[in-house]
This record gives sequence, structure tokens and C-alpha cells, in this order.
Amino acid sequence: MITYTQMGKTGEKVSSIGLGTYGIRDYDQGEEAFLYAIDQGINLIDTAEIYNTEDFVGRVIRKVGREKLFITTKIHPKNLASKESALKSARGSLKRLGTDSVDLILIHWPHDTMNIGDQIRNIESVLKEGLSRYIGVSNFSVQQMEEGRNSTSSAEIVCNQVKYNLEEREIERDVIPYCEEKSMSVVAYTPISKGSISQSKSMKKLSGTTGKTPIQISLNFLMRKPSVIPIPKTERIEHMMEIIGSMGWRLSDKDSSLLSGDVK
Ligand SMILES: NC(=O)c1ccc[n+]([C@@H]2O[C@H](COP(=O)([O-])OP(=O)(O)OC[C@H]3O[C@@H](n4cnc5c(N)ncnc54)[C@H](OP(=O)(O)O)[C@@H]3O)[C@@H](O)[C@H]2O)c1
Repeated sequence: MITYTQMGKTGEKVSSIGLGTYGIRDYDQGEEAFLYAIDQGINLIDTAEIYNTEDFVGRVIRKVGREKLFITTKIHPKNLASKESALKSARGSLKRLGTDSVDLILIHWPHDTMNIGDQIRNIESVLKEGLSRYIGVSNFSVQQMEEGRNSTSSAEIVCNQVKYNLEEREIERDVIPYCEEKSMSVVAYTPISKGSISQSKSMKKLSGTTGKTPIQISLNFLMRKPSVIPIPKTERIEHMMEIIGSMGWRLSDKDSSLLSGDVK
């Protein structure tokens, strides 16, 4: 059962889980898995200009119709050097995706020398040109998010896309509380630790009592925080079915704390 949540303050309903696309190798198999997920009700897809998967996402868009999907792409920070280069980069993404605009465009990671304000102003020009409906950031610290939020002229930064999984939970200390306070979404990448979820004693016990797999338990654990939207990647229909099975139920507080006990 697919459940839905809101992307930041946008009022847009996106599926509680989105589809990552980095590293898809078999596009035919991937398409089958994505069409299955979309047919079930998933509507959020994540790509980036450097992933080499915008063409693949374009193929999926043509099959199901643009209106069914909430598409996120990302600009490489070097392309944020000027408004012109940001627009050129976004137009390149749109061409590969075969659409006039994306729903959300992110700064893939902060540029290491350019100030945050300039990066934000340049990505905002993509919005002003109507090439994206919303802007967001990725791999930003709390300080960088704060600077970013103070630099926008009219747009809101709707999300921060960051690494978050059962074994890597540092963002629970700072990034998640900040995003919650500002009503931003936390889009969680590498949410299933690249497919190698720890088989701890507690995980095995929980799997036995809930009847859910470790992948489903892990994703459900991340989604306990209402701001968090995991975006696992799979190009296999059987893995997609397992991922979808992480929605529509909730780990109890007791079970979650059991899991918290054996990870850092
Ligand atoms: N913003 C950023 O800097 C950033 C960085 C990294 C990733 N991302 C985004 O986040 C997405 C997800 O992160 P990720 O790809 O790093 O890692 P991930 O989603 O944690 O793991 C993907 C791996 O898990 C496997 N897998 C998927 N479902 C499975 C299942 N049910 N059972 C066993 N294995 C399974 C996949 O293989 P199969 O395909 O064979 O199922 C794939 O090898 C990316 O695709 C990308 O869109 C963003």
C-alpha cells in the first residue's frame, strides 16, 4: 500500500518513498520495475544531470505521462557559476527528460569556493524562468541551509537531500531537527545502505515478530520521522515489491528503540 506525504511546504503530495536512479544498468529491466511502482501509486523520481539516467527517466515519463510524476533533478555545482550556466544546465536536463519543467531542482552539493548566496540566486533563476517549480539543496549542513534560506529572494528551499540509513544516523542530531523546524523535507539517499542492511540480532528478532524483511524494517524506521522521504534505488521488480511493502504499517516505539540500541 502506497502512502503519501508532503514535499516541504509545497502542498504537493508525493509518495512516502521515491525512486532513486543512480547506477541503473539494465534500462529495460529498470523500466519494468519503475512502471510497476508507478502503477502502484509511486510518483516521486530522483535523478541528476551527472547520473546518466535523465534519458531513462524521460523514457518512463513518455510511458506514463508527465502529470503522474513529481520529478527531481540536480545541478552540478560547477554549473552554478552564473545564471546563464545554471539555465543552460537545467535546459540540458529538460531536453534529456523530454519535459518543459521539472518539479524540483537541487544544488547537488555545495560548491567549495563559491558563496552559498550566489549559488542559491543562480539556481533561483531556473525557477524564475519556469524550468522548475521548486528549488532545494543536497548535502548541505545546517549552517549552509541557514545561509541558503537567508539568500533566496522569493523562493523557499523545500528540501535537503542527504545520506540517511540505519547505520548512518548523524543527521538526526542537527539536519533533521533543523528541517523539521523549517518545514523542509529530508530526502534520504542511500537509505538501504546500498542493499546491505545489517543483520543484527535485533533486526533478526524484529523480522521474526513483524513478518517484514530487514529492508522493509529499515525504510519504515526512517519514515517514522514525518519529514523523511527515502529514495532507494532498484532496477528489479522483486526488490521494488519489497520496497513498496515498507509502507502502510508502522514499527512500534518499542521495536524502534530495540533497533536504535544496536546502531550508532
Ligand atoms: N544527492 C546525492 O548526493 C546522492 C548520493 C547518492 C545517491 N543519491 C540518490 O539516492 C538514490 C539511492 O541511493 P543509493 O543508490 O546510493 O543506495 P540505496 O538505495 O541504499 O541502495 C541501492 C542498492 O540496493 C540494492 N537493492 C535495492 N532494493 C533491494 C532489495 N529489496 N534487496 C536487496 N538489495 C536491494 C540495489 O540493487 P538492485 O538495483 O539490483 O535492486 C542497489 O544496488 C540514488 O539512486 C540516487 O538517486 C543521491
